[in-house]
Order: sequence, then structure tokens, then C-alpha cells
Amino acid sequence: MNYLDRNEFNFEPSPKVVEAVKSFDPQDLCFYTRIYDQGKKSVISVRVSELFGVPEEQVLLTYGGEDMLKNAIHYFLMCGDRKNILIPEYSWWYYNRVASECGGTFEMYPLHEVGDTFAYDVDEVIALTNAKHPRMLLLASPNNPTGNALSATEIGRIMENIPADTMVLVDEAYANFITTDTDYIAPLVNRYANLIISRTLSKFYGLPGLRVGFGFIGKGHDQFISYVNKYLGYNRFSEAVALAALDSDAHYRRVADEMDWGRQLYKRELGPLPGFKVYKSVANFILIKYPLAIKEPLQKALADLDYKIKFMGDKGLEDCLRITLGRKEQTQAVCDTIKRVFNAQA
Ligand SMILES: Cc1ncc(COP(=O)(O)O)c(C=O)c1O
Repeated sequence: MNYLDRNEFNFEPSPKVVEAVKSFDPQDLCFYTRIYDQGKKSVISVRVSELFGVPEEQVLLTYGGEDMLKNAIHYFLMCGDRKNILIPEYSWWYYNRVASECGGTFEMYPLHEVGDTFAYDVDEVIALTNAKHPRMLLLASPNNPTGNALSATEIGRIMENIPADTMVLVDEAYANFITTDTDYIAPLVNRYANLIISRTLSKFYGLPGLRVGFGFIGKGHDQFISYVNKYLGYNRFSEAVALAALDSDAHYRRVADEMDWGRQLYKRELGPLPGFKVYKSVANFILIKYPLAIKEPLQKALADLDYKIKFMGDKGLEDCLRITLGRKEQTQAVCDTIKRVFNAQA
């Protein structure tokens, strides 16, 4: 089966990752890590602290970005008097599920379709956050499934103009695809105590099965950090593989370039067809509006070929497909199938 429906990685892990898996000493699993004796969480948080220039105490380590969301949303919505979170319209459905798991309520702020992309209206986000005064504000950059992102300046402008007791979580699961720049993170988390920036090894580093996420938090959150932390340490096998992945940027950057070939193909081949619109993508997936009339035959044709893509069901995006950018031959097969089914219906 070709899975192009959940933004996974249809390429090879880096040689360093493969080597880390092969050379892992099983004996290491017989003991807890001793790094806690040095007052650190993990070899990963130490490495991430060096890479991002953020003190290790402010680095959070989780079981994927999902776990970061759960920890932060559950903790902040359950502690204190306000249980509401503001999330982007057309975003990962899971945000509101996590909020409802702990009795929280969510409201959405709009994303606006502008040309071939969706955009945040930063002033509107600021105004709504002040008006609603939520316990949390969720920003996703790039956003899934619309693929649009916020710049560091825009994140800073939002932080500067909203209440200091609204905790902001910026979900940057796909951020490595837009920029190699990470220099903005340390100044932001140093300046704003109410900020969390969340990253993962699941997307750019192609290791969703490893379940490693990390993040950064503003100063003064000892209780939350202790809530997230694992006193007995982290999975030592995952630690070894994660370090190798973080040391393999060149490999994963080459893969990201290959994904760009797919973006261009969809744009060129499907963009001009009536009823289609190929949105700009800055992540490992692409959003494409298509004529709903071909939904059923397309589902069947892709199933016959053993391909899975995401037929969106979200309100307002029912006529869209979200396709993970895979290997060239996969992209070619999906694109050809869409065209074939479309031409047969026309
Ligand atoms: C927007 C977004 N954030 C976070 C995640 C979490 O991924 P993981 O838990 O594998 O890090 C996903 C997964 O698809 C996602 O789409």
C-alpha cells in the first residue's frame, strides 16, 4: 500500500539513522539513563538545546508533537479558571479533540483564502484573542491541511499584543520544510513566558514511528515542565536514533527538494484543469481542490492501485484532497490517476 494520506515519509531514513539502529547496544536498554543525575532530561534535550540555543531547562521532550499538544492543552486548560482554546479554522481536527478530552471548549479564528493560499489575518487573531481572552491560543505554522505559515515577525507581533495569561502554542510540526532558520526561536521564548513552540521528528526527519517530539517554553514554568518530564528518563533506543536524525539535515534536505518536484508536477498538470485549484504548499503535503463529481471513481481508481490519499471531510474543504508528497513514481501515479479519472468523466 502507498500511504499518502497521513503526511508520513515515503523515502529512506538517512544513512546515519540506519547506522544508529544497527549499532545500538541492546545492553543500554537494561538500565535507565543516568543523565538525570546531571540535572538534564535526555541526550536529546541536551542536543536540541545546543542546536537551538535555548537553555536545556526550557526544552520539552515528548512522545511526538501529539504528546506535546496533549500535555500542554490538558495542563493549561485544567489548571486555572479558564478552559477555552482558540484554534485556526481548517486545521488539524485533533486540536479540538484534545481540548474536549479535558472538558475544554474551543472556538475558531478564520483563515482567509487569498489567491492560491490561505492566510492568517494577524490583526484579527490579536483582536479575537483580546476579545475572547482564551486560556490558550493555538497557532499552526505551517498549518495542516492548508499549508500556510506565519513568519517569526508575525508570531512576535501576536505575542506582543495579546494578554500575557493566554498560553500560546505554536505547532511547528512542518516548519523545517519552509526554513532552515531557527534563530528566531530563542529570542521569542526568552521574551515571552507564555509561549511554547513545538517541533517533531515525524515530518522533515521522517520518523513518525519513532515518536519523538520536542519543544521550547518561556521561562518560569517549573511545574508544567515537571508535569511533562519523565523522571526515569526517555526511551534510550529512540534517543540514539533521534540524535542521528538531528545530525542528518543534508539527507533530509535532499528529500525535501525531491518533494518539490512533486509540488511542481501537481501544479503544472492539475492546476490548469477546470474545477481544480492547487494551493501553495510549504510542507510535505499539498492541498488540491477538485471537482467533487469525480470523488467516487477517483477513490476506486486509487484503491485499485493501492494508493491512499486524504479526501477532506472538514467543513469548507469537502472538495479538497490532501496528498502527501511522496517519491517521484508515487506522485506521478497519483497525478496520472486523477487526470485519467477526470478525463473519463469530462
Ligand atoms: C499539524 C500537526 N501537528 C502535529 C502532528 C503530530 O505528529 P507527531 O505526533 O507524529 O509528532 C501532526 C501529525 O500529522 C500534524 O499534522
